[in-house]
Amino acid sequence: MLTLNIIGPGRLGKSIARLAKPHYQIAGVCASSLASSRDAVAFIGAGQPCATLADLPAADLFLLAVPDAMIAEKAIELAESGVVQAGNVVFHASGASEASLLLPLKAAGASIASMHPAFSFADPARAVSTFAGTLCALEGDIKACDVLHDFALALGGKPFNLAEGGKAAYHASLTMAANYLVTLADLSIKTAQQAGISDEIAQSLIINLMQQTLANIKVLGPAAALTGPIVRGDQSTVDKHLRVLNSTTRRCYQSLGQATVNLAGDKLTDEQQLALTQLLF
Ligand SMILES: NC(=O)c1ccc[n+]([C@@H]2O[C@H](COP(=O)([O-])OP(=O)(O)OC[C@H]3O[C@@H](n4cnc5c(N)ncnc54)[C@H](OP(=O)(O)O)[C@@H]3O)[C@@H](O)[C@H]2O)c1
Repeated sequence: MLTLNIIGPGRLGKSIARLAKPHYQIAGVCASSLASSRDAVAFIGAGQPCATLADLPAADLFLLAVPDAMIAEKAIELAESGVVQAGNVVFHASGASEASLLLPLKAAGASIASMHPAFSFADPARAVSTFAGTLCALEGDIKACDVLHDFALALGGKPFNLAEGGKAAYHASLTMAANYLVTLADLSIKTAQQAGISDEIAQSLIINLMQQTLANIKVLGPAAALTGPIVRGDQSTVDKHLRVLNSTTRRCYQSLGQATVNLAGDKLTDEQQLALTQLLF
């Protein structure tokens, strides 16, 4: 059985450790204090609590699950601790940063990678029971990605590889899909309220429509799921919308509207594309 050290057993770290426990031997667990490491070991149900990185036992895999801003600093500290041996795999779980944050560990002979589960670990106890099927993005050294491919499968995840240098585009896509969807819901609800609709009805109106649309995208794909005035080439309706929106919402409507013209593609004539583009510019 391969052994795993966890550095930073917070929301993600302790959830991953507990999911890994049936298949990997949890070796050392190191949080910001010994007391905190002990609490994490109690949650995980395995592992040796450590006060510092130098106290960690030898292990095949090292997960650096500290906050993003601390990964580079902890990588240097871990490299200097002498705990990491040639052939070990060291990985972090940041969505936005590349494996290259761990470069100091390469000098110790480790191979490095990042494994980002597209999942919210807000509540570790709940996370371990709902993690199955989560897509896990892998990026870094080939050897480390191969080891983490098996690791992700053992957790119940679905691993896939990112292209070299693809981390920023990967994370931007998640940010648009998850965070901007929330912003879009908020702007849409506020615009509905402008029509005199109550908060409660405006929320149901927008969220129900978003859910139906997401279900259509899942089955049909984005281009075939597209309905509405832009794909119909209805310039006068788009013009009416633009006249009632406040400046922030109008800018958002115009940017997304232009992307929607592109998505509609040859469903619009050249004249319709040009007229809509002029309206939305
Ligand atoms: N949370 C998510 O949903 C999620 C999802 C995908 C990826 N990620 C990634 O996972 C990583 C961890 O995020 P998180 O949300 O799990 O963070 P978190 O809950 O804040 O946990 C951070 C952990 O780092 C430990 N830590 C802080 N300073 C330390 C130090 N000086 N030495 C050793 N350990 C230290 C903390 O120790 P204490 O326990 O003692 O405070 C804690 O265990 C990040 O790279 C994040 O981007 C998170």
